Amino acid sequence: MRLQVILGIVLVMGAKLTLPQYLAQPNSLRKGFYAESCPELEKIVYNVMREAVQARPRDAASILRLFFHDCFVQGCDGSILLDDEPGFQGEKGAVPNKNSARAFYVIDFIKSSVEAFCPGVVSCADILALASRDAVVLTNGPYWDVFLGRKDARKGSLSLANSSIPNPASNLTTLVSMFQAQGLSSEDLVVLSGAHTIGFARCTNFKQRLYNQSGTHKPDPNLSFPALLEMKKGCPPFGADNNTHSLDKSPFLFDTSYFEGLVQRAALLNSDQVLQSTIGSPTTSLVESLANDQTAFFDKFPLAMIKMGNISPLTGSKGEIRRNCRVRN
Ligand code: HEM
Repeated sequence: MRLQVILGIVLVMGAKLTLPQYLAQPNSLRKGFYAESCPELEKIVYNVMREAVQARPRDAASILRLFFHDCFVQGCDGSILLDDEPGFQGEKGAVPNKNSARAFYVIDFIKSSVEAFCPGVVSCADILALASRDAVVLTNGPYWDVFLGRKDARKGSLSLANSSIPNPASNLTTLVSMFQAQGLSSEDLVVLSGAHTIGFARCTNFKQRLYNQSGTHKPDPNLSFPALLEMKKGCPPFGADNNTHSLDKSPFLFDTSYFEGLVQRAALLNSDQVLQSTIGSPTTSLVESLANDQTAFFDKFPLAMIKMGNISPLTGSKGEIRRNCRVRN
């Protein structure tokens, strides 16, 4: 089996499938879903993403995170994109998203460009999945074929957004079980956390790590990066909650610096550091090997993204194709 997986081939009920095809199976998402109904789709998404990222480089990270926050709350169904309306409180106001989830305007822009070519055909959930892949590609990360065919939810869940998206103060046991609840393994947890190779966090989310952390996770006092002093300067013990710091030393480049930082006990977030410094955890060796092996990271990340993108999509007659990603039809 191991050799077959290495070769990218698995045998499922007698049928030979590539690993990405196998991962895409359960919910019948597929590559080329819009090949006939919207042939220009991927070009449109890529072009808007390229312009957005050129103008505001952080948008790549922000879009990638939106996809994670979408998929972890009732599946990858575009629910995070819904605005609040009278009688409906959406996910944007949940603790992990409030003052934090951003770059919604990029999805709006992609959606209106796509609607101009093929109205009423492409879901917001699929647009977010494609835009996330392009966010990775545009920051020099790996390319993969995105499996498509998701429909959009007609509701979101504020309470699930508050309970299902992991908190940066979580320990490793909690992170592993929250990922398991979504059908993702501890290896997926480590690999997907590698998304923190791009982007920023607010002081409120790493203050505890700077001033109040003990044991093996404590930041190395001899840190070269991110220099502890520099981190503390922008994030004092009180106030300045919305000041930001990059999650690794190259916040606009998809590379192995994030994992290198973890090995140096220099992670910005507690939830990142615990992947490496929890004593006796098998995640430690994976972090260490990814820190030294960009090829392995670039092989594993797409597979983990495909798996995450497969969380409970609405397909077939379920859900709808929203005309505007912010509101139900
Ligand atoms: C393992 C559990 C995770 C936790 C606890 C976590 C937590 C966080 C936090 C606290 C921030 C900073 C938010 C802020 O301060 O405003 C952040 C940023 C980010 N997260 Fe995660 N995250 C996790 C996993 C992931 C995954 C799986 C992905 C994507 C596959 C991801 C992608 C990102 C990106 C790209 C950013 C930067 C966003 C920006 O600059 O706008 N995270 N994360």
